[in-house]
Amino acid sequence: MTASGRATAVAHPNIALVKYWGNLDSELRIPANGSISMTLSGLQTKTSVRFDPQPGEDQVLIDRRPASPEARRRVVRVLDRVRLLADRPHRAYVESANSFPSDAGIASSASAFAALATAAAAAAGLDLSPRALSRLARLGSGSACRSVYGGFVEWVAGVDDESSYAVQIAPPEHWDVRDVVAVVSRDRKRVGSSEGHRRAGTSPRQSARVEDAPRRLEACRRALLARDFDALAEIVEEDSRWMHDVMKTSVPPLDYSSPHTLQLLRQVPLWRAEGLSVAYTQDAGPNLHLLCLASVVEQVSERLRKTQGVLDVLLAGPGAPPQILEDDLSG
Ligand code: PMV
Repeated sequence: MTASGRATAVAHPNIALVKYWGNLDSELRIPANGSISMTLSGLQTKTSVRFDPQPGEDQVLIDRRPASPEARRRVVRVLDRVRLLADRPHRAYVESANSFPSDAGIASSASAFAALATAAAAAAGLDLSPRALSRLARLGSGSACRSVYGGFVEWVAGVDDESSYAVQIAPPEHWDVRDVVAVVSRDRKRVGSSEGHRRAGTSPRQSARVEDAPRRLEACRRALLARDFDALAEIVEEDSRWMHDVMKTSVPPLDYSSPHTLQLLRQVPLWRAEGLSVAYTQDAGPNLHLLCLASVVEQVSERLRKTQGVLDVLLAGPGAPPQILEDDLSG
C-alpha cells in the first residue's frame, strides 16, 4: 500500500463512436462487440480511496451521499479485485464527486469507475499496467475500461476477463474533434444501461448488429487515423442508429428519444448537407452528442442554442487519461 493507504484520482467520461450494447457475460461485463470512444476533456470525476486495517464495512459516498445499494455493489466489486491483487483484506472508504451534473446526459459511470480503479490501485500500492487498470475499471462499468486512456480508444471485446480490455488508438492531440452536448431533458433515465445490456439479446436485430461490428470498427478506426470527418460522421451516425434499432426492438422495448431528440436526429444530417462538419450520436438517453470539428464549434453551439427544446449546451474535446493527484498522496 502507499504509506498512507490512500490516493485520489481524477478521470474523464467518454463518448462512444462505435457503441457497446449487450454483454456475453454481464457479471464480468464482457461485451457482445468491440467499441471505440473519445475520452472527454473538461468533465471529470474525482475519487478518493482510503484503505483501513480496522475491521468493518466499506463506506461509499457519491456526491456526499451514501451510494445506492446497486452502485455500492459495483464499487465493492472493483475494491474486492484490488484487495485480491494486493492480498490485503482491508476495508475501504470511498468518496467520489462529479464536476458535471449526473442529469446532464453524459454517462458518469465511465469516469467514476476509471477514477475508482486508478485511485484504489494506487492506494493499495499496486503498480498496474494500463491494460490491467482497464480490466479493473470494466468490472464496475463496461465503458469505464475506455476512460483509462486519453484521446481515441478501442475496447477489444475479448472473450473473458483477461482478453477484454481497452487500448489507445491515438492520443488527444491527434485530432481536435469536439463534442457539443445538446441537453434536451434533465429527467433521470427510467431504464439504466445495465438493464439495457440485459435486454439487447431479446432484439432480433442484435445478432446482425454484432455481426456487422467489425466493419463499423474498421471504418471508424480508419476515419480517425486519416482525420476524415465525413467518413467519421457517416459511420458514427450509422452505428448510433444500429444501437437504437436494437433498443426499440428489444422485449420490452426501450426508446430513449424525446420529440426534441427526434427533431435533432433529422436536423443534424441536413446541417452536414449544407457543409457544416457535424454528426450526431445518441447514448442511452434523450440528449444528443454533436461531434464537430473545432473550427465550427461556435456555429454548432449557436444553432443548438436557437433550437427549440435545447435546455443547455455542454462542450468537450479530446481528454486526458486519469491522473493521480499527488497532493492527496501525502496526507
Ligand atoms: O458502460 P455502461 O454500462 O454505462 O454502458 C454504456 C453504453 C453506451 O453508453 C450506450 C454505449 C457505450 O459504448 O458507451
